[in-house]
Amino acid sequence: MAKSNKAPIGIFDSGIGGLTVVQAVMEHLPDENIIYYGDTARVPYGIKSIETVREYAIQITDFLLSQNVKAVLIACNTVSAAANKEVRAHCGDIPVLDVVAAGTNAALEMPAKSNSIGVIGTLATVNSETYEQSIHEKAPDKRIFSRACPLLVPLAEEGWTDNEVSRLVVAEYLQDFRDKNLDALILGCTHYPLFKEEITRYLSGSNTAVIDSALSIARMTKEILTEKGMLNTSGKQGEFHCFVSDKPQRFQTLAERFLGKKLNRIEISSLF
Ligand code: DGL
Repeated sequence: MAKSNKAPIGIFDSGIGGLTVVQAVMEHLPDENIIYYGDTARVPYGIKSIETVREYAIQITDFLLSQNVKAVLIACNTVSAAANKEVRAHCGDIPVLDVVAAGTNAALEMPAKSNSIGVIGTLATVNSETYEQSIHEKAPDKRIFSRACPLLVPLAEEGWTDNEVSRLVVAEYLQDFRDKNLDALILGCTHYPLFKEEITRYLSGSNTAVIDSALSIARMTKEILTEKGMLNTSGKQGEFHCFVSDKPQRFQTLAERFLGKKLNRIEISSLF
């Protein structure tokens, strides 16, 4: 049955990182209602097995479908790498967008200077070589340098995105990228845009575009909803409904800080 244009867009991640996508969707599609699910009880996903991440992803997809969403945005690179096909198969006719495709598109829009692209992500994302596949499908001659930066996820969940510790960790992880003259560095984990300022500062001088897939997936969502005649054009500010699997003390504070607005409804919905 066709969904109402007012049906919400479902967005999910392992934790707080997907809120970077929420923020971009709110900016680009202000009328859309959004349902977010952050699997805060089970974050991080990036150090877990593909099978486990798939199982979690399907549970969350089922939850979003039960909320009658009209589109699903996989705001997690680890899930995109591990369970993209499974989530799509599960959603049937409902459009599914993912951050790996979005990050790839945005990186390939950058002018080719050295013809190389850097990718940073979780261990699961980097080991899956999903970005290599996605980039090489469209640009087989690109050279790709990737590095897992697992410590950035707990730092982001802790709210340590702009202090001496985060500066040291960013510098340690990115030291090999500084002299590579990369066309682009893809932030291949939705937690990483929270360090974008620091990463951009660290790479300044190397002429590398820092790619945040949140903006790109928001643009792609607008295009696909427009194409399918599913855009919400009510002229009313969309509602945001946030679900988590556990409510850590800091989640509300951090979420409000990242989104720049008060959240009066964060509900716990355990899926297991
Ligand atoms: N933010 C997620 C990603 O884009 C997952 C981080 C994690 O849970 O390890 O990969």
